[in-house]
Parts: sequence; structure tokens; C-alpha cells
Amino acid sequence: MSKKVEEFQKEVWKYYHTHGRHDLPWRKTRDPYKILVSEIMLQQTQVSRVLEKYKEFLTNFPTVYVLAQATLTEVIRTWSGLGYNRRGKYLHDSAKMIVTAYNGDFVEALVNPLPGVGPYTRAAVRTFAFNEPHTMIETNIRAVYIHHFFKEGKPVSDKELIPLIEKAMPISPPAGGPREWHWALMDYGSYLKKQFPNPSRRSAGYTKQSKFEGSLRQVRGMILRELHKGPSLLNSLPVEKERVDAALASLKKHGMIKKIRGRWSI
Ligand code: ADE
Repeated sequence: MSKKVEEFQKEVWKYYHTHGRHDLPWRKTRDPYKILVSEIMLQQTQVSRVLEKYKEFLTNFPTVYVLAQATLTEVIRTWSGLGYNRRGKYLHDSAKMIVTAYNGDFVEALVNPLPGVGPYTRAAVRTFAFNEPHTMIETNIRAVYIHHFFKEGKPVSDKELIPLIEKAMPISPPAGGPREWHWALMDYGSYLKKQFPNPSRRSAGYTKQSKFEGSLRQVRGMILRELHKGPSLLNSLPVEKERVDAALASLKKHGMIKKIRGRWSI
């Protein structure tokens, strides 16, 4: 292995051994269901906000079988507060599919398409649950590689990162396997992002979330909170009609709400 990669690994491990977030609850389990729940929650939501919801969600839905049996309303009721409620629906849909199509077998389910489970989530669950070496790229991991291997200024594509990621992957102990390596990368990346102007912003794929989409997300949350109280005409929300209509269309398209005799419900 080249000296450069070895030095890089040393730097990542050093940070992790002294400052790693060793107490995160999803790092204390190998259960692919619990890891899937955590990974879906951690998309777009900060660790500190996920911690409480993760516990509550697993108390209400301790296994994939319990989740598959629950109603969407029950799932979204627990999920709400985390935002991006569509993720809760996808998780519920995935649980139903894992139970009905794969008899609860995650090994088999994870090599097939599941609702809302993209390449990153699939790789993350297989890495953290089964300790398999998968290439996975998310914001913190991207930050680490860009910070270490690329000079200031030029945008970096994920394609350029892949050979480095593959070269640096420790396959087996004593170095620590893929599971711990990715925890280390994520912790170091999270630290780097606080120290430096976000290095993943130099990623060629970086796009700032648009203001309109951000505000629509709020309206969608508002609508779901209202509909949890019961069916409604939704004609008194403190938001312009255009935005309410756009939010309703998006929720309906994703199967989160329906209209019956002029009234909206979950
Ligand atoms: N540990 C395992 N997955 C994680 C994630 N997505 N973010 C932070 N820590 C993690």
C-alpha cells in the first residue's frame, strides 16, 4: 500500500481512537433492522436530533415484523418531529416488503430494490450490520477524502473519490474492519466540517437545497400535523394557497394522504 494511503489511515484512526463517538446506540447493534432505521433517520437529520427519535421508534416498533404490521398513521405519528416524513413512509413500505417478499431475511432483501433505500443506505446497512467492505459516500466521508487528497479550489466528483476509497478500505482486523473504518471516517469528517469551511461543498455534486423546496417541506409537515387530528378541508392554514396546493400534490403523489369527499386525510 502506498505511503500516502497508510498515512491517511493513520490520521483517521488516530482521530477516531481519541475523539470517536463510541456511544451512539446504532453502533452497539448488529441488527440490520435497527441499523436501517438509524441510517434512514440520519439522512438529512443531525445525530443529536436522531438520538431521541431512534429510541422512541424502536420502543414502538422493535422489530421489522412489528413495523410491517403497523399502520402508516402510527408510523408517521412517531416519525413526525424528525421531518422529511416521506422517509418514514418508505421505511414502513420497506418493512412490509422485507417481511412479505423476503420472510424477514435482510441479507436477501438488501440485494434487491427496496423503497427509499438507495445505494448509500444499502451499502451502509450491509457495512454496519455484516461488516462487509462496500464503497459508500455521504457528506462526512466525502469531506474526509476531499480534505486529505485534493488541493483547495477545484470541484471534486464522487467518481474521482472512488479509487481512493477502495484503496484505503481496511478489510480485516487488526486494523479494524469496514464497520469501524466507516464509523471513523464519519466522525473525522464531522469534525473536519466544523473546523473548515465545509469541504464537501467542493464536491461537484454539491447543491444547496432550494428555498422553495425547504419551505414546501415545512408546509408538508404542517399539513400532516393537521391531518393527524382527523380529516380536514385544510382551508385555514396560514400559508398561501399556491404553496398549500404544491405541498398537497407532493404528499398525494407519494401516497402520504388522500382526498375523500372533498376532505383530506392520512
Ligand atoms: N454511525 C453509523 N451510521 C452513521 C451515520 N450515518 N452518521 C453518523 N454516525 C453513524
